[in-house]
Parts: sequence; C-alpha cells; structure tokens
Amino acid sequence: MRPTDTLANTAPNSPHGMADPAISHSTALPNRAYTDPEEWLRERDEVISKTWAGLGFSNDIATPGAVYPVTFMGLPLLMVRDQNGHAQVFHNVCRHRGMQLVAEAGETGLMIRCPYHKWGYDLSGQLKSTPNIGGMGIHEVAGFKCADHALAAVRCEESMGIVFINLSGEAPSLAHNLEPLMSRWRALAGDHFEEQLIADSGDYGAMELTLNSNYKLAVENYCESYHLPFVHPDLNTYSPLDAHYNLLVEPLASGQGTRVYDLARGDDQPLPLFSGWDSDRLKTAEYLSLYPNVLLGIQADHFFVILLRPEAVDQTRERLQFFYADRDALTDAFERRRQSLHEAWSLVFAEDISVVEGLQHGRASPAFDGGLFTPLMDVPTHHFHQWFLRGG
Ligand code: FES
Ligand SMILES: [Fe+2]
Repeated sequence: MRPTDTLANTAPNSPHGMADPAISHSTALPNRAYTDPEEWLRERDEVISKTWAGLGFSNDIATPGAVYPVTFMGLPLLMVRDQNGHAQVFHNVCRHRGMQLVAEAGETGLMIRCPYHKWGYDLSGQLKSTPNIGGMGIHEVAGFKCADHALAAVRCEESMGIVFINLSGEAPSLAHNLEPLMSRWRALAGDHFEEQLIADSGDYGAMELTLNSNYKLAVENYCESYHLPFVHPDLNTYSPLDAHYNLLVEPLASGQGTRVYDLARGDDQPLPLFSGWDSDRLKTAEYLSLYPNVLLGIQADHFFVILLRPEAVDQTRERLQFFYADRDALTDAFERRRQSLHEAWSLVFAEDISVVEGLQHGRASPAFDGGLFTPLMDVPTHHFHQWFLRGG
C-alpha cells in the first residue's frame, strides 16, 4: 500500500492538510479500553497479538548469550541473542515446574539454566541438560526426551533497532508490515537509512519513565501536534505548529511532520547526516506512531524510538533510544550535541507526562463517551482509533 502523499493532501490555507468533516461523527474507543483490566487482556489477545508489537531494543541483547527478561502485558517473556546473532524470544518459564527462567538482564553464556533444578536450555531454546533427573548423578531417565521440551518460542523479528514480536505467529512478515513506512522514509532519508542506524549506548543515548496511563493515550498524544503551542512552548519556538502537517501511513501508522526542524541550534558541532537524506528537505522531521506501541522520530541527523510497554491497563513503561547516522556521532567531538538533544527531547517528553496522565484521569468519567475528533487536527488520532476498532 502506498503511503499517503501529504503534499497532495495539503489545502492552501492549512499546512495540516484537508479537513475531513466525516470524522467528527466517528466512533471513538470507549472509556473501558483505557480503564478495564479485562479489556486490556482481551486487547492483547485479540488485537495486538495479530500484528507486530515492540518488545525491546536490539541493543538490550547486543551479543550472543545476552538475555533480557521483559513482561509484556502480563506475559513473562525472555529476549535472547542466539549464537548466530539472531534475536529469539521465549516465554520466560521453565518446562519442568514453571520457574521463571531469568530474573535479570545479563550474559548467560551458551546455556540458560533454570535456577530451581538447573535444567539447561541452549540459546535456541532447546532443552539440553536435566541434572539428576534419574536420581543423583543420573542425568537421563527412560521415556523422557529433551527434544520434546524446548522452550515455548514467540515469533520475533528486528527492524530499526527494535525487537518486535507477533504473539499469534500468523501476521505477514515484519518487512511486509513496515513496507509503507519504510518506502516513505527511504525517499526522505535514503535507501539505506535503516542500515545506517547506530544506537547510542552512552550517557545521552536513552531515557526511561513510567506513565500512569494506558499506553494508547501516549500513542494518541504522539499522533497530534495540536497541543504543541500549549504543552511544548519551547519546542514550538523552533518547530512551530503552523509548519506541521498530518501524516497517515496506511494501514498502521499516523502522526505528524514538520518542515522547519532546526538542526543547527546553538553552537554545537553539527552531527553527521543520513547519507541519502533529501537535500531539499534537510529541515523535515517526521513523528509517527507505529501501531500498536512504537513511537518513531526521524530527523536528518538523528532518529529515536520510544517503546511503550503496557504494564497495567493504566500504567506504561516508556523507553527511549537515540540512534545516529554514523559511528562518528558517538565520539567525544559530538558529545555536547548529543547532550543537547537528550536535554531537549527529555524536556518535550516530560512535558507530555501531565497531559497523558490527565487524559487517563478523564477516562474515569462517565460523562466522557469517547469525545470528538476535530476535522483537521485529530485526523491522525482518528486513524489510530479506526485501526483499533477494526481489530488491528
Ligand atoms: S523448574 Fe526449572 S528445572 Fe525445575
Ligand atoms: Fe507532546
């Protein structure tokens, strides 16, 4: 499917695009989609499971033998880097008596050993050792075949430094899923922008916070620039609302872009740019919510990913990772610039906390029935709701 051409969609008097009066009468997700724990689990099993959700970052499991336990909507999962360098995701539970296999991120070597009775699984999840299963010093027993008891795997693939999972195992490939977005951004950032991404694992490379809200409210807030002058007055000085446009990338992403993102603020050393970035659009930056739980931001000199990990119906862990276009960007020469970016984006995302949590409080009100989609400014949010109401 072709990405929406936002320029063709731009009305002369509105940088955001054409108004769509029909959305004013659309159904929105009801309050219970934000407040009901049972609805939260139904959403996991019936909507999110059908598609690709962001679980963690590739650099959480940087090298073979790295393990990273993560609970996703109540499911204890384990990310592993196998011996071939591929990401693997397993249910984080021993096949013997159901012990949690790994409690902390770290290096496990060639074998994942259960802490309870020390059964050992290799990095591809195969059960390889069962100490004392036949009595002290006897490690085999008649009728028991290790090959029948591999860890339960979850389908996973990586892209843009993100480990994605497909819980049902039945979605089209991740590459197929991301193609509309990738073709849009290859036209902007160059055919090889994805291979160029270098994760910053240094002091200014990441941030984490907890939101007391349903994850969908963070997605919705990220979809729109309408709140920019009021919630982000500083950002609005260098990337004002009237230079923004709406973005719809069918079928599973929406957000907004700007034509005036200033790469050269202050006297910091300018960062290396993506080598194939369109030179006519150096100040273009785009911000897309990739449904259901990944927020992406692309600029000519840096890229970031925010993973929203739902911890409860009304609580979300937000993890941000910065990426650059060249390894040089991680050297001391650019430290000041990396620090400035970290400070600037930290401010923006901190400013969003109170509104996202305020939206959550509002969802407790029986007087709110899903509210209104205004015909211009809420087009990307409406798109997200429609995706959800279709069942993903
Ligand atoms: S529960 Fe894991 S070895 Fe027994
Ligand atoms: Fe915001």
